[in-house]
Amino acid sequence: MKYDFTSIINRKGMDATAYDSVGQYKWGIEPELPEEGFDFIPLWVADMNFPTCPAITRRMIERAEHPLFGYFNYSEEYYQSIINWRRAGGFHVDLTRAHIGYENGVHGFLSTAVEVLTQPGDHILLHSPVYVGFKGDVEGLGRHSVYSPLVRDESGVWRMDYDDMDRKIKEFNIKTCILCSPHNPSGRVWTMAELEKAMQVFEANDVTVLSDEIWADLVFKGHQHIPAQCVNQWAREHVAAAYAPSKTFNLAGLVGSYHIIYNDGLRRAIVRHSEKTHYNEMNVLSMHALAGAYSGEGRAWMEELLQVIEGNARRACEYINRSFEGVRCDMPEGTYMLFLDCSGYCARSGRTIDDVIRAGWRVGVGWQDGRHFEGPCHIRLNLASPRVRLEEAFRRMKEYVFI
Ligand SMILES: Cc1ncc(COP(=O)(O)O)c(C=O)c1O
Repeated sequence: MKYDFTSIINRKGMDATAYDSVGQYKWGIEPELPEEGFDFIPLWVADMNFPTCPAITRRMIERAEHPLFGYFNYSEEYYQSIINWRRAGGFHVDLTRAHIGYENGVHGFLSTAVEVLTQPGDHILLHSPVYVGFKGDVEGLGRHSVYSPLVRDESGVWRMDYDDMDRKIKEFNIKTCILCSPHNPSGRVWTMAELEKAMQVFEANDVTVLSDEIWADLVFKGHQHIPAQCVNQWAREHVAAAYAPSKTFNLAGLVGSYHIIYNDGLRRAIVRHSEKTHYNEMNVLSMHALAGAYSGEGRAWMEELLQVIEGNARRACEYINRSFEGVRCDMPEGTYMLFLDCSGYCARSGRTIDDVIRAGWRVGVGWQDGRHFEGPCHIRLNLASPRVRLEEAFRRMKEYVFI
């Protein structure tokens, strides 16, 4: 490989939530500190333990060498980089600068859109298992989450339950849905047929869709990310989508997401709301980082990254399914997350999911309690680490946890 996905980089004391928040209870979802004698292996918060693409750091350093950081204009290059990157998938073919807007994180986008589209007390449809951060965007703003559970089909693939979605939308008079595509934490990459059916349900009920496509680039071989807006003409007009280079290139600390909204009325309403207070402003280094990421070198780096995380996911599923009886692990189609179903193991061993999670934390296996994601007996596992660290985590799971 040309790029570095094997070095173990010390992030401790380097502002990294993944390390420095452990045992802190800032969000209430952090792992506990390990016992003495065990170092911490971060398998929780959704960032990567790989150095980012060198084109990104180069661009930022070049900009930082010009030692003025005053108010700045969003460059044409910024918009053009997004247009080229998003068009490369064969979708968003008529995307223009006018459809794109900077967002202070996907959470910034969702918070604004929820405030614009709904009133306090309204209900919003989500799928469960659910990315834990959505709860804050919905419930933190005084709205209510309504979950439509994904169900596993006979082959174990998580599927949307269209009848249940339709029923819940009607029962709770829902007008807004947050769709996660690709889906965190299940790792599903929705197919065109699945998205078409979902859009039929939304169209029939006049539901506006907020499509979080932050994981769009991290899709494994044999699967393809289909932007929800590109499903049909109705979706183009009724879906507001959010993207970012942050998951793909490990840039969450720089903050720099963006929306794509084709419908003029919807876009104006969302933009007007955030412009009113000037809170939604880009950081100049983040702008240069995006241009470095969405480049030829960025694509080459990402292609290697995809090989690494897909390889890690295959290895993890193979090892876990073979070694830990009653723990179910399905190969994801994208993202770098695994969602382990431990119900068989807990039933068999008489141990609770708390016992299992804490046994891992005690020996530095820094995984995350699946109950935060509405998985009752589940664990979420982040695989974006050098393979040797994952192997060490598997070894500890075998020796100390699933015994
Ligand atoms: C589905 C999803 N949306 C949004 C985010 C966070 O996005 P941002 O850092 O741009 O606010 C995450 C981070 O894990 C995520 O998994």
